[in-house]
Amino acid sequence: MAGRFITFEGGEGAGKSTQIRLLAARLIEHGEEVVTTREPGGTPTAEAIRRVLLSGLAEKLGAEGEAVLFAAARADHVDKVIAPALKDGKWVLSDRFFDSTRVYQGIAGGADAGLLNALERVAVNSAWPDLTIIIDVPPDVGLARAVKRGGAEASPDRFERDDIAIHEQRREAFLAIARRDPARCVVVDGTASEAATAEAIWQAVSARLLGQAA
Ligand code: TYD
Repeated sequence: MAGRFITFEGGEGAGKSTQIRLLAARLIEHGEEVVTTREPGGTPTAEAIRRVLLSGLAEKLGAEGEAVLFAAARADHVDKVIAPALKDGKWVLSDRFFDSTRVYQGIAGGADAGLLNALERVAVNSAWPDLTIIIDVPPDVGLARAVKRGGAEASPDRFERDDIAIHEQRREAFLAIARRDPARCVVVDGTASEAATAEAIWQAVSARLLGQAA
């Protein structure tokens, strides 16, 4: 039996990791086997690429060069973690996936759309998400949370450091993706309480993937 693949997307500090934890717990309670993972990352090679990307070491390559690295990390992650888990009938919850490339490198970064489509086809292969949850928060709220989470001495990563106007553009880009692909995407309000956001996510998951009301 094939598993289910849910991706979480949104800007910085949207609360994705907390919500993934809460959803995983609820699915386990429901008797499902769950794998939680993140991008860039999820395998030793992809985690090494993550360090290069988030430190800003690859920034000089430009959005297209960075997109190539995100795609290489994604291909390894799909092959080694996501596809095998789905094949085993598990639920896979990923903190970010290809929509982040479409938004950060594509719409907001200006990378060539033809290149991004080709990279996406190769990296994603057949691991298409059954559901994508976009957690929407205004950039000022999200960035303030990200700073708090990082602690006083943690410096913001290469993508958090971008201008507020770029964060605003990314937010609009995620919402545009959701409007264009409502069969796959659900937008939830990330400014609500943790519990209220978790409930909205559970409603979407149970209605779409468990085939029943919660
Ligand atoms: P992370 O610390 O995981 O951010 P967050 O907690 O906000 O998810 O860092 C991942 C960063 O990489 C984030 O700023 C988004 C960016 N990113 C891309 O630009 N393209 C991509 O394809 C992916 C997966 C992430």
